[in-house]
Amino acid sequence: SKPITKICCIGAGYVGGPTMAVIAQKCPHIQVTVVDLNQARISAWNDPDTNNIPVYEPGLSEVVAEARGRNLFFSTEVDEAIAGAEMIFISVNTPTKTYGSGKGMAADLKYIELCARQIARVSKTDKIIVEKSTLPVRTAEAVKSILQNTGNGVQFQILSNPEFLAEGTAVEDLHAPDRILIGGDTTEEGQQAIAALVEVYANWVPTDRILTTNLWSSELSKLTANAFLAQRVSSINALSELCERTGADVSEVARSIGTDSRIGPKFLNASVGFGGSCFQKDILNLVYIARSYGLQQVADYWEQVIIMNDHQKRRFATNIVRTLYNTVSGKKIAFLGWAFKKDTNDTRESAAIYVADDLLNEQANITVYDPKVGEAQIQYDLNYLATRSAEQNKELVTVITDPYETCKDAHAIAIMTEWDEFKTYDWQRIYDNMIKPAFLFDGRNVVDKKKLTDIGFKVYTIGK
Ligand code: NAI
Repeated sequence: SKPITKICCIGAGYVGGPTMAVIAQKCPHIQVTVVDLNQARISAWNDPDTNNIPVYEPGLSEVVAEARGRNLFFSTEVDEAIAGAEMIFISVNTPTKTYGSGKGMAADLKYIELCARQIARVSKTDKIIVEKSTLPVRTAEAVKSILQNTGNGVQFQILSNPEFLAEGTAVEDLHAPDRILIGGDTTEEGQQAIAALVEVYANWVPTDRILTTNLWSSELSKLTANAFLAQRVSSINALSELCERTGADVSEVARSIGTDSRIGPKFLNASVGFGGSCFQKDILNLVYIARSYGLQQVADYWEQVIIMNDHQKRRFATNIVRTLYNTVSGKKIAFLGWAFKKDTNDTRESAAIYVADDLLNEQANITVYDPKVGEAQIQYDLNYLATRSAEQNKELVTVITDPYETCKDAHAIAIMTEWDEFKTYDWQRIYDNMIKPAFLFDGRNVVDKKKLTDIGFKVYTIGK
């Protein structure tokens, strides 16, 4: 098969942007065009100052600066980019359905279908279609059916190539992935398509890290990986509550079990609960698929991971209210962090949103500081829940760009994201400006509990 010279990627989001930037960086001989319907997003990717690109990831602006204009392009000309490419990545969003059957559980595949129809309409030459988005197992079948019924003689091969990057370390993960997974048809044409994509990655990834499977294994592996990762968080979080009652320390328990090589040390931090656009959506999707095959026990088993996570978020909020003498009405609570984890500006499904919502129901006033998230996004996140009017959210929640101002005159601080800078604040100064007793609820176990207790804070950490 001919080597690939032109790639198009549909969707310039948290996955499409960084993955394509790294492919372009590592494959100067391939022209990579990332397209999106969202004009504002494309304009931001094209901002002359690469510090203003729409996705914040350590090291990303440098990669974009290196490749953009050379062999990396961002555009809204979707048809043109599709027509010119030999390989098309689909990286559009696949959110949980908010309507109709499967509402709140199934993945909404309307954006995927729109892409497939657009590709079918525009293509005049043979193409390899790569599913980069996370999709329910057997989606490739639907994509194939749409593409193969165009009647214009164009040949399509569908590959599944799920993305395993973690936000916050996307560039690092893309430069040195644990593995690349490529699923395709077992036919000769399918195997050739797989080989063409392997060749792209082989420009920087050792070939023994490039795994190939059939389509369905690849699609299902991504859902499985996220389910296992989220399960570890819910498992340690479940134990954190028991630690709090028994005098055990969840960090000590995590270290003790993590040294067992069968368990491993990573991803065992207790917290206020996982967030991000993927874990919840992908598990709900897995649960939905299992139920649709009548596998009730399988579905219930994985659903418990979500139930535990919701419980962890809720009990964090409840603990704040209880500790503050059973009322937070009219009290100022300062949130440090809003992003779902450190080193990203992504707030989707962030625990902070749900904890804030609970506290607002108790009539708290909330101030928020996050180093990478601004006021518009924070108000958007709260309004999206539709618990109260936008005017009320604006009245009750104030976003401040200085952490010391944020905490001034607060009854309590809630640390919602594990940003490194929180460790090095002048905590004495923060304490001096708070209402006493000064409470601190550390949802990420980032601060030095002893040091802050010595200053005078009443510190609550998770699982201790
Ligand atoms: P995103 O929402 O940041 O980006 C998706 C982009 O696709 C948006 O900019 C949207 O305007 C664009 N889009 C939608 N329909 C389009 C169309 N028909 N034509 C052109 N553009 C269109 O989503 P994100 O986070 O990049 O996720 C994409 C997929 O990757 C999802 O399936 C997600 O599950 C998966 N994924 C996400 C990871 C993450 O860390 N965010 C990691 C691994 C997989």
